[in-house]
Amino acid sequence: MRVLSGIQPSGSLHLGNYFGSIRPNLEWLKKSDESFFFIADLHALTTMQDAAKLKQAREDIVLDYLACGFDPDKAVIFEQSQIPEHTELLWILSTVTPMGLLERAVSYKDKVQQGIAASAGLFTYPVLMAADILLYQTNIVPVGRDQKQHVEIARDIATKFNRTFDEVFTLPEPFIRAEVSVVPGTDGRKMSKSYGNTIPLFAEESVIKKAIMGIQTDSKGMNDPKDPDTCPIFQIHRLFLDKKESEEMAGEYRNGLSYADAKKRLFEQVMEVLKPLRVRRSALKPKEVSQVLQQGNARARDLAEETMQKVRKAVGLR
Ligand code: ADP
Ligand code: TRP
Repeated sequence: MRVLSGIQPSGSLHLGNYFGSIRPNLEWLKKSDESFFFIADLHALTTMQDAAKLKQAREDIVLDYLACGFDPDKAVIFEQSQIPEHTELLWILSTVTPMGLLERAVSYKDKVQQGIAASAGLFTYPVLMAADILLYQTNIVPVGRDQKQHVEIARDIATKFNRTFDEVFTLPEPFIRAEVSVVPGTDGRKMSKSYGNTIPLFAEESVIKKAIMGIQTDSKGMNDPKDPDTCPIFQIHRLFLDKKESEEMAGEYRNGLSYADAKKRLFEQVMEVLKPLRVRRSALKPKEVSQVLQQGNARARDLAEETMQKVRKAVGLR
């Protein structure tokens, strides 16, 4: 069984990425035959037009992946833009992708509404994502809820291709953990790099503290009972807790835990869990990173080429 997931290098990783993507991916890594994690730098070009920033973010994200515990001996870590088969397959898939399928994609509409330029690249984003997934004959794609529709689109495109030409592609399935499907940000909306509402994993401690202390809450008084189900502090904190601990803490909220104390405890919890990752990250050497990528890119290229040979044959190209 093969697992694959990608993250755009469009800013620093945050708790939403950690619980929505990194942790489930690490769990799948233990169960899968082979896992693939890649830096979706071609996707990042749809929203980022600053070469120096992209370069920096790409380097950072590899360090972040390694620090989070992706063992390069078990996981293939690679760069999307180093495997030209992604864009070759994007084109071939786009010729069997109905316009209507892309017109229904909510992420495109959301991004345009946020003010991102409505380019052809942004519109065909899901087709490139389908190419990413299908090239490696992926079975499982662990993602946050916001990406579910994209994986379903990849499945639809694969079905259409297999029916039109030949049974080339494995049909992928999204894997989404219900309890962490959407991690709220400090303003209550989905935590996202593009909303400036994140709790970053690898920023200075003071930045993390400031983000947590700035979580927006309602105006209930210090000792008033709080509703854990609607409180963003608790909604983030419970992700770190098991069921029993979570119920106990919910009880404290109902008994009037102050928001200031709740935030302080969340901060301590976050730092405790992130500490080993942060220590590991600061010990990583740039040379190790380039070795990991070289090895990962080579393995990815082999597999991508294997699939592309089948695709070219199926459609009648040389
Ligand atoms: P962002 O929205 O911050 O740009 P990405 O789009 O790069 O994040 O997402 C990378 C991965 O992290 C995806 O699998 C996505 O579903 C997951 N993810 C991002 N934000 C959240 C969140 N707030 N809650 C749960 N999962 C998330
Ligand atoms: N679109 C994903 C995101 O923004 C990143 C991504 C690109 C991806 N290609 C992928 C995720 C393939 C999983 C599989 O989060």
